[in-house]
Amino acid sequence: MNLNIALLPGDGIGPEIVGEAVKVLDAVGKKYGHTFNYKKGLVGACAIDATGDPYPAETHKICRESDAVLFGAIGDPKYDNDPSAKVRPEQGLLRMRKSLGLFANVRPLVVFDSLVERSPLKAERVKGADFVCIRELTGGMYFGRPQGRSEDGNTAYDTCVYSREEVERILKVAFEQARKRRKLLTVVDKANVIATSRLWRQIAKEMAPQYPDVQVDYMFVDNAAMQIIQRPTYFDVLVTENLFGDILTDESSVISGSLGLLPSASLGSDVALFEPIHGSYPQAAGKNIANPMATILSAAMLLEHVGLQQEGAAVRAAVEKAIAQGVVTEDLVDASMPGQTARSTTEVGDFVAAHV
Ligand code: IPM
Ligand code: MN
Repeated sequence: MNLNIALLPGDGIGPEIVGEAVKVLDAVGKKYGHTFNYKKGLVGACAIDATGDPYPAETHKICRESDAVLFGAIGDPKYDNDPSAKVRPEQGLLRMRKSLGLFANVRPLVVFDSLVERSPLKAERVKGADFVCIRELTGGMYFGRPQGRSEDGNTAYDTCVYSREEVERILKVAFEQARKRRKLLTVVDKANVIATSRLWRQIAKEMAPQYPDVQVDYMFVDNAAMQIIQRPTYFDVLVTENLFGDILTDESSVISGSLGLLPSASLGSDVALFEPIHGSYPQAAGKNIANPMATILSAAMLLEHVGLQQEGAAVRAAVEKAIAQGVVTEDLVDASMPGQTARSTTEVGDFVAAHV
């Protein structure tokens, strides 16, 4: 297969972790006879520094002309404490999602058996947890207008809006995911208070009969936040709106033992984008210590998305092997495993690439 991949390394540790994922992709290409062509684009703080725009038109063009996008992370502390900053790196990410039509963010959570002890939750509670959160990504409060301040600056407002079309298309993704998995779909909302949530629940109920093989469960978001911690093994597929999904997936990520392990896919009608769920970890930038596994696993999702199932599975297996053999960065070094020392970002990437 000949595949054109847009690489958007972004800020902080982005370039290092994307570099390791490319190393792994190239090893896959060599072993299974595929050619991956890369084109690099700027997004985030590095794009602001170079062009004044966090998502330049040139980057958009590169993404549109590719079969898939592999993205690192964005964010730079120099923008975080400056409320007067007119352009922010995050705006680039939001515009990229919106303009590429990436409305479905698929965030899987698995607990690797060899890492159960690292979870802050009790091992018996997290062992076997395996669920996926489908987060709506281009609607809700993130994009609703009006948003802003009153003239005197003392009142602020956001708007949460969802149309039937937006809700139907994300629920369709979720029902279909559930169908491919254990067939339990949990619709997470706040339908006891919020109007958009009531629309979500109504539409989910209308669609459910089309998926008689899927069991649908409705849960308020506050209860879901609790259940994810109390019984993570219960869940199969969760679907929810943008802001709830943002919060619940950060919460869920903790269960696995490291944020550095979790990949994601953002899907729409056109090009798909793959990225680790963690941020740009600026403190670690350039130090060769960041965990590249979430990005490598995002590359595995990319391979599977374009139909290379066997290749994706080979990458996953190589990552599991690295974890099982203790070839891990400092975030996964287990004090209880005597003699284990932290490996560098590049050493972990080399190991995975050598074992695909
Ligand atoms: C995420 C991030 C982004 C979001 C930020 C950086 C805008 O937290 O991808 O989860 O809130 O969607
Ligand atoms: Mn987030």
